[in-house]
Amino acid sequence: MSKKRIGILTSGGDCPGLNAVIRGAVKASGQLGYECIGFLKGYEGLYDPVRYINLTPKNTTGTLNQGGTILGSTNKGRFAATVGVADRVEIDPELLAGVKTTIDQLGIEGLICVGGDGSLAVAQQFHEYGIPVVGVPKTIDNDLSATAFTFGFDSAIDCATNALDRLHTTAASHERIMVLEVMGRHAGWIALHAGIAGGGDVILIPEISWTYEDVCHKILDRESNGKRFTLVVVAEGAELPEGGLVGKDQQGAQARLGGIGQVVAMEIEQRLHRETRTSVLGHLQRGGAPTTFDRVLATQYGAHAVRLVTEGRFGEMVCYHPPEIESVPIIEAVNQLRQVDPQGSAVQAARALGVSFGDRPTEDSPFGIRIETSNTATADDVELDAEFTLDLVEAATEEALS
Ligand code: F6P
Repeated sequence: MSKKRIGILTSGGDCPGLNAVIRGAVKASGQLGYECIGFLKGYEGLYDPVRYINLTPKNTTGTLNQGGTILGSTNKGRFAATVGVADRVEIDPELLAGVKTTIDQLGIEGLICVGGDGSLAVAQQFHEYGIPVVGVPKTIDNDLSATAFTFGFDSAIDCATNALDRLHTTAASHERIMVLEVMGRHAGWIALHAGIAGGGDVILIPEISWTYEDVCHKILDRESNGKRFTLVVVAEGAELPEGGLVGKDQQGAQARLGGIGQVVAMEIEQRLHRETRTSVLGHLQRGGAPTTFDRVLATQYGAHAVRLVTEGRFGEMVCYHPPEIESVPIIEAVNQLRQVDPQGSAVQAARALGVSFGDRPTEDSPFGIRIETSNTATADDVELDAEFTLDLVEAATEEALS
């Protein structure tokens, strides 16, 4: 009789650590007497045409520290289950039936789907259809609820921190204001953590309302203390004080965020007449070797996902509840966006050090807290907001750049 089989695929935007998950799953499967099959280009490889490779400890050797994914990935494609962050779109039943046939014909006991919120929403629909899946959470944004960390996040903040270290010296040499725009979509985790690790002076995130006056106030305050340069870290999804996000509307798909760094820099320059420069880190945050932390996390996720398959715990997603790797129903992870808690200890520690979040301290609130959103926002809330504000955004961007 042929060996039992486990399938694996990587879906959505890539991030460091995907290969470490694959390698972890392949090795763990082998130990338990399973063969491993890797589907190519995400969900696309599951049907019409079916495209896969056999994965073995031999052909995954040396991949632990490789960025990207040896299986390739597709963002959206035919298997989109969401338009916004959590607006459910039903997958074509013909596709679902086709995938089920593939899984049955190849004798796959369970399919490990490695992806972010959109890809896990697809996995959830597979599960509801009766396709045996388990999920592994991936994204540099760290915005999936039900897990303390997604792999890829640590590598992204390492990259952003390194950028801040470099900007620090040139900012000091030229006495300039440096604005660094980082990714993260509607969550400020990358900006917050890199901002703290890289000594940012101002951190602007989606979860805390801010004003240009208060950003400028911080810059002037530093000058009055003899610091003639300032590092500003801005999350791509931070809302402008006048309302709106900066990015491109994509007709029926999620907005592509980006450009706020330039808007903030120009406004600072106009208001303070100080030399200001912008760097947009972009996809550098998604490439390269995973950090040690991400290698360990991704390897554990891969091994634990295999265990879920062998125990028949389908419809579950591995998660990290420090110090343990556990699992939760996939549905719990895709329904809610996990944002930064403005009252959380990381924000408070930064404030205690004098970092500004673009909201000026008041007597009632000496650390300058002005909170208008919370970390309990649902993904729907955020997406509605984004849709509502994109027109304003484009107007704001044009005005700022004209
Ligand atoms: O979700 C990961 C992420 O890198 C976000 O931080 C960013 O907004 C988006 O993906 C970029 O997507 P794309 O690679 O499609 O431009």
